[in-house]
Amino acid sequence: MATGIEAMVDLRRMTVDDLAAAHILSSEQKWPHRIEDWEMLFGLGFGYVVERDGAVVGTAMAWLYGDNAATLGMVIVSPSAQGMGLGRQLMEAVLTELGDRTVLLNATDEGVPLYRKLGFEPVGPVFQHQGAAFAVPMAELIPEERVRPLGAKDMPTLHALARRATGMDRDALLDALVPGAQGVVLTRGNEPVGFALFRRFGRGYVVGPTIAPDTGGARALISHWLGSNSGMFCRLDIPEESGLGAWLDELGLPCVGRVMRMVRGPAPASDPSITTFSLTTQALG
Ligand SMILES: CC(C)(COP(=O)(O)OP(=O)(O)OC[C@H]1O[C@@H](n2cnc3c(N)ncnc32)[C@H](O)[C@@H]1OP(=O)(O)O)[C@@H](O)C(=O)NCCC(=O)NCCS
Repeated sequence: MATGIEAMVDLRRMTVDDLAAAHILSSEQKWPHRIEDWEMLFGLGFGYVVERDGAVVGTAMAWLYGDNAATLGMVIVSPSAQGMGLGRQLMEAVLTELGDRTVLLNATDEGVPLYRKLGFEPVGPVFQHQGAAFAVPMAELIPEERVRPLGAKDMPTLHALARRATGMDRDALLDALVPGAQGVVLTRGNEPVGFALFRRFGRGYVVGPTIAPDTGGARALISHWLGSNSGMFCRLDIPEESGLGAWLDELGLPCVGRVMRMVRGPAPASDPSITTFSLTTQALG
């Protein structure tokens, strides 16, 4: 039997026509996403919305990586509609479509209780660092190391590096990001061993993903982007194990927030010799 709330609300697949309403919901939360960021996220994945009395009051989205993995995000219920079970309904609709894939997400403190109830386990924190008033010394490169512009022929290398670092098939994501991004590749002895993209997002720019074999390589890549964009608003979302937090603080990109990475299902098998030092976005991982 339908309860009162189920009778009033309509849960359905998100369409492109919902993005303006979705953008209002994220702005209400003081999230920095522009309508262009929602469009990009929608173009890469799928979502559900809940409507109450004809108005969109909740969203949840997911993005598929190969056959076995996905990330989930943009889970928002308008403050006036929270605590009525809508967040759970949205999550259950998305999770049903994801089936038995491993699902990763980055949870705000508000989201953690809901995700725990749905079988997600905490993995570790991700710190949001950002600012515009930073000063970056020249990167100290080791012998045989170079940071060079990304070229069209590098795509297979990017695919392979991202796959090793995440344990997931990120080919389609990178193919979609690279045309709208600037990129650099880290080489050692002419071998590409890492890369970093620099993209418009939210209030300014994001350095991410940054994928490198070690902290020194990650710093060289990130220094390239920060050094050439002093005065621009730049953001990085870094997993705690990246070890970059104190360095970014010192440069003038303080930590302004923290989310908890969570996983449902077996964690994707990544190569421990290469690491994601900064995320693409919190939603896309
Ligand atoms: C997180 C959010 C989406 C939850 O939506 P919601 O519609 O209020 O959630 P629901 O009413 O469906 O509650 C879901 C479950 O979590 C539980 N829950 C929610 N907040 C809780 C809290 N602070 N402590 C303990 N349990 C909590 C509820 O009791 C409920 O459990 P039940 O389904 O077993 O009864 C909503 O709070 C929100 O939009 N927050 C702001 C944006 C945000 O941070 N989103 C998460 C991004 S990762």
